[in-house]
Amino acid sequence: MHQTSDSPRVRIAVFPVAGLGTRFLPATKTVPKEMLPIVDRPLIQYAVDEAIAAGCDTLVFITNRYKHAVADYFDKAYELEQKLERAGKAEQLRLVRNVLPEGVRAVFVTQAEALGLGHAVLCARPVVGAQPFAVLLPDDLIWSRGPGALAQMAAHAQATGASVVAVQDVPRAQTGSYGIVATDIFDGQAGRIRQIVEKPAPEAAPSTLAVVGRYILSPAIFDLLERTPKGAGGEIQLTDAIAALLARERVDAFRFHGTRFDCGTHLGLVEATIRYALDHETLSEAARGLMQHALDAMGVVET
Ligand code: UTP
Repeated sequence: MHQTSDSPRVRIAVFPVAGLGTRFLPATKTVPKEMLPIVDRPLIQYAVDEAIAAGCDTLVFITNRYKHAVADYFDKAYELEQKLERAGKAEQLRLVRNVLPEGVRAVFVTQAEALGLGHAVLCARPVVGAQPFAVLLPDDLIWSRGPGALAQMAAHAQATGASVVAVQDVPRAQTGSYGIVATDIFDGQAGRIRQIVEKPAPEAAPSTLAVVGRYILSPAIFDLLERTPKGAGGEIQLTDAIAALLARERVDAFRFHGTRFDCGTHLGLVEATIRYALDHETLSEAARGLMQHALDAMGVVET
């Protein structure tokens, strides 16, 4: 990306959703992980809303041949809309139509084989072309009262011309579950990445700043992905291509404001469900009551 202060706006968001979701088997035998709901919306909807709020108007879904549910979800549901209209269910009709607001288009690309996240991103190349683009992993759900994480990153990308990788602090014992970055100077919010390593053991980790599933990337990443060999887990890793990008262009780590839930794990999904229920405009009070009731019924003593 050019290092100027008037970098182009990020308009394309890529959603790699072609993974197998093995941690949620047996549910993911038929329901893609991204379609699991948090209270009243599937995970993918939260990520899509975040991308649209950041200014994206083209959404690229990298899917596989089993994930019809994702494409169906974003397709127009004529019959359902007609039925809701006839039944005078205006609010439900609004919800169904707002899945994909007017002016936003969805493009679906098939990843024939699950060769890794890096490979999934490379599949978006024909749609993205030569402009900077965002990547959002929907199982990283980021809760924020202010601007969404991607909007914060887009503002940083536009101001600096850098590629931007979202990071958060993790306990050192957990570095082996993340990509970990080392930065030259970190001003509390952002810093230029000097090194990025995939899943280092705690003693080998260069820091405890962990990459989470939001990226704004220069199109230069595609050539690098083409040349990236299989890495950790026998997969083509996005982290490895970003490591190569560092040598050529500025890539910043960005510590966003917001809380991230790892909905790729059972506990993360449960935690997100609890937090969203407690914050929900109509369910909040009832949710609080039933959680208290559940703790009492299970004999959990309040401290
Ligand atoms: P994960 O590592 O979470 O893998 O992928 P997964 O298959 O989704 O889930 P588990 O670990 O088996 O339970 C991170 C992201 O990259 C996407 C996934 O869909 C997820 O959004 N991905 C991964 C692809 O799109 N293609 C791949 O080949 C691999």
